[in-house]
Amino acid sequence: MGWQIVEWTPGAYELADLELLLSGAFQPLGGYLGHDDLHAVHERGTLADGTPWPAPVTLHLPGAAAPGDEVTLLDPEGVPLAVLTVAEREPDGLTSGAVKGLGAPEHGPFARLRRTPAQVRDELDGREALAVTMRGPLDDLTEIVATAKELDAVILLLPLSFGETGPAVVRAALRAKEQLPEGTLVVSVPLAPRAEPEIDLELREHVATAYGATEHLAGPEPVRIPGPPHRRGLVVFFTGLSGSGKSTIARGLRDSLLELGSRTVTYLDGDVVRHLLSKGLTFSKDDRDLNIRRIGFVAAEAARHGGLAICAPIAPYADTREEVREMVESVGADFLLVHVATPLEECERRDRKGLYARARAGLIPEFTGVSDPYEEPDDADLVIDTTHISIEAAVAQVLGTLRSGGWVR
Ligand code: ADX
Repeated sequence: MGWQIVEWTPGAYELADLELLLSGAFQPLGGYLGHDDLHAVHERGTLADGTPWPAPVTLHLPGAAAPGDEVTLLDPEGVPLAVLTVAEREPDGLTSGAVKGLGAPEHGPFARLRRTPAQVRDELDGREALAVTMRGPLDDLTEIVATAKELDAVILLLPLSFGETGPAVVRAALRAKEQLPEGTLVVSVPLAPRAEPEIDLELREHVATAYGATEHLAGPEPVRIPGPPHRRGLVVFFTGLSGSGKSTIARGLRDSLLELGSRTVTYLDGDVVRHLLSKGLTFSKDDRDLNIRRIGFVAAEAARHGGLAICAPIAPYADTREEVREMVESVGADFLLVHVATPLEECERRDRKGLYARARAGLIPEFTGVSDPYEEPDDADLVIDTTHISIEAAVAQVLGTLRSGGWVR
């Protein structure tokens, strides 16, 4: 926490909240909430001064910052979006304060359908408006049409376009608009979902009201129908000591999959990655973690498009493996952890590259299993000890798991 923070890229949820703070959709909020407001929101569903407000809107900042400091908030590509004037700061980094927009142009899918509440209220020009907030397709338009007619209201479709599924929700709104009365408006609102359904609903109501709605309907929750596993992205992540057989099994698996021909394969072997993607990184904990995050990033990108990625680094740290699992699952793909659990004595006995001998002789510092840790997974989907089995048998075990899970037909 020593260094002074002047710029920061908030997380996806925090950025979504920022956009709504700046547009006025979170009125009367002008910034991220501090201790007293959060306490009141939690206890009573109001701000500290009694104004109704249903949900926490928070920001975490690392580094040092004191009340009065200004921090520029950036989007993930580094574009400055807003300046935060720090009001309060908790020891854990929770930071409150007003935000001021820098007028960065909107971008992203359907950016042209983002409008500020003030613009929409202008357009409504005092007419009644029935807002329908959507997180998925609308299954029944008749109720909406009837309610709008009864109220003599304009229909305002508000697709909540946060996250991976955002564009699909906007498309659903545009499809619905075609079947709704002339004059129906569609405005994309990147409101991130809140975990508690009642709070989520109340927040939707607040946002709809900011957009000028006189009545609000919440569209049905989306039914998630994941694609069949053989079409879904998959990351097969091997972890284990150097010399455990990871690369050999991973390569055998890749070859078998290429022979079957039913899936596209991206292969990210540990040693291969370190020649290009992670060239120059050391074996310190920080560099190993960065190496694994890079592998995870590339694997998740391949899996996002329905590909099958095979990774085979040592990946000695449980937290970092978990991070990769989350990265992969966040793009809607599956993650399979294979622990190649060949014991150290066996890896060392084989010592195919002569590295263990050199590590024991003190010539390679921080060598995994000798002078550096390896955290055994307790969440592996498959554990293979290659001491007494052939490569073919090991590959067959992994392939068997892929078949029984439906990932390979
Ligand atoms: S990881 O820890 O970052 O996951 P990675 O799989 O990329 O490691 O690289 C491991 C390979 O680097 C080993 O198979 C070995 O050939 C080589 N290597 C060189 N120095 C070390 C070291 N200090 N610890 C482990 N492996 C090392």
